[in-house]
Amino acid sequence: MSLGIRLPQWPQADEREAELLRNVLESQQWGGFHPYIKEFEESFAAFHQCPYGIALFNGTVSLELAFSVFGIGVGDEVIIPAISFISSATAVSRVGATPVFVDVDADSFNIDPEQVRQAISPKTKAVMAVHFGGTPCRIEELAQICKEKGLILLEDAAHAQGSEWNRRRVGGFGVAGSFSFQNGKVLTAGEGGILVTHDAGFAERARSMANCGRVAGRSFYEHANLGTNFRMTAFQAAVLLAQMERLPEQIEVRAANVRLLKSLLEDVRELKWQAQPEAVTQNSWYLLTARVQDAGHRDALREALTAAGVPNGFYPHTLYRNPLYQNSATCRILPCPVAEAMIHDSFWLPHRVLLAEEEAIRQIAEIMRTTAGAAWSRP
Ligand SMILES: Cc1ncc(COP(=O)(O)O)c(C=O)c1O
Repeated sequence: MSLGIRLPQWPQADEREAELLRNVLESQQWGGFHPYIKEFEESFAAFHQCPYGIALFNGTVSLELAFSVFGIGVGDEVIIPAISFISSATAVSRVGATPVFVDVDADSFNIDPEQVRQAISPKTKAVMAVHFGGTPCRIEELAQICKEKGLILLEDAAHAQGSEWNRRRVGGFGVAGSFSFQNGKVLTAGEGGILVTHDAGFAERARSMANCGRVAGRSFYEHANLGTNFRMTAFQAAVLLAQMERLPEQIEVRAANVRLLKSLLEDVRELKWQAQPEAVTQNSWYLLTARVQDAGHRDALREALTAAGVPNGFYPHTLYRNPLYQNSATCRILPCPVAEAMIHDSFWLPHRVLLAEEEAIRQIAEIMRTTAGAAWSRP
């Protein structure tokens, strides 16, 4: 079936990216010391209401760097949701610590603070709050738990550029927030990452470790700390500066299309969208996710979308069912019935679908309404 649904391409670029990239090409500095890096760090950190930003070459090393700076390692545990991308877990394993997988909430699809409380052990050192699909998790409750228990809160905000909880942008609720600018993200340079923070000490240590252990103000060949090279390139920063100019408007377009799609499908009771609590005052809408009451209908729905050329997806298993955690890497797994059910009954539409024209959104709604059609009840 081809309905000729017109969807925008992703990533998108125009003369602005080309102009900034040309400036880098014509400069004598293509690496991590071009002024665009600092400019991007400052503007992205300010966009997320944080005083410090450390630009890095992707959102996996940004998580690994955060744990190294925290000094988390062998014998320590970090609590993370069972539904996320693998880097949320491997960042913990790669510093030698143990990921503790907990269930997500059946409505918000995000890490469940109650499950976090239950998972805390004497070895727990940190909690990783993932804002799944761009919808912030209950971050203030997690911050409170971490405060009470003396734990570090790290936000994996890879999906959530621009997302807000009670008018505060994500990334600044814990000690640090990590973002990804990989090819499919709402702000992208093909690859890229950043850590944002309010903590001057964390910022200084992270910057030094990402820059071969150098210390600000000292000579280029003096290395005070055991560091590495995680620096972002000037080409990445150039593209990201241009992309940032479009992000606020794109967020608005996606939000309007989400409202339209949901209103067109209001009477389809079998679709349960990711809950949007009142505290979610802005959502990046990286992913629009729903559960389908009958898991069999989820597969039919996904097949119909795919046949019509509409990208869609979901993780094929919970994080701990990856061969890595089944066969070799140490982990602790709490019961995750919601996450396990979601693997079979959930799907997402990626953000480029949500940038489409109204006609495309109406066509997509029609596919979703009719697919598992007859079986879907209406009032
Ligand atoms: C939740 C999450 N965390 C971390 C990452 C890792 O980011 P990167 O691909 O930039 O390394 C990603 C995705 O790509 C992600 O989705």
